[in-house]
Amino acid sequence: MRRLTPFPFLFQASFLPFLSIFLLAFQIPTSKASKVIRADTPQPEIVIPPPSSGYVYHGCYNETTGLPDTAGARALSGGADLVRPGPGSDGMTVEMCWEFCRTGAGDASGGTSGRFMFAGLEYARECWCAQSLSSLSKKLPDSECNLPCEGNATQACGGNLKLTVYMAGAATARVAWAAGLVAVGAISMALL
Ligand SMILES: *[C@@H]1O[C@H](CO)[C@@H](O)[C@H](O)[C@H]1NC(C)=O
Ligand SMILES: *[C@@H]1O[C@H](CO)[C@@H](O)[C@H](O)[C@H]1NC(C)=O
Repeated sequence: MRRLTPFPFLFQASFLPFLSIFLLAFQIPTSKASKVIRADTPQPEIVIPPPSSGYVYHGCYNETTGLPDTAGARALSGGADLVRPGPGSDGMTVEMCWEFCRTGAGDASGGTSGRFMFAGLEYARECWCAQSLSSLSKKLPDSECNLPCEGNATQACGGNLKLTVYMAGAATARVAWAAGLVAVGAISMALL
């Protein structure tokens, strides 16, 4: 007499093709899905500003709102801010924040020509301008500021309670340095 097995059909040769199709059906979508996720969400990059922006990259800094005894004060406070949710051309970009803090935000006294010392991008859509960066704000590894800007997903716009911070000042220094080189070049030409 034949021995009884719990699922005799599993051992029939004719079932094997169905079993492998079943297994493949499980395999293929999984590997495809992980590839799609990787292609759709590249790591956003920290944008290094051109001299014309008026800013240089300063680092990734921690927000201070959650610290005890600070009454929720921000790392970049006392200035101006702009919130631009995306997607689309209205969404926040790094250039938009530089421009806002360099001119459009005005200075602390309400003018429109002042340049804030600091411009910081946070939470993918926020731009914060201030004359100083709180000393309580800790510098973090660059990789912590990895949220894509809502107006340009290839750019890094801080993180959740983390700021991609730019500092003013070097633009003029760099221009002066370049002008110096031109002068040196002119002198060497004259000597030749
Ligand atoms: C960043 O700040 C938050 C409070 O806002 C704090 O809980 C957290 O520990 C800080 N992280 C670092 C690395 O300092
Ligand atoms: C998005 O950002 C990248 C990197 O800064 C830049 O090269 C590109 O031109 C930007 N795209 C648009 C549409 O502005």
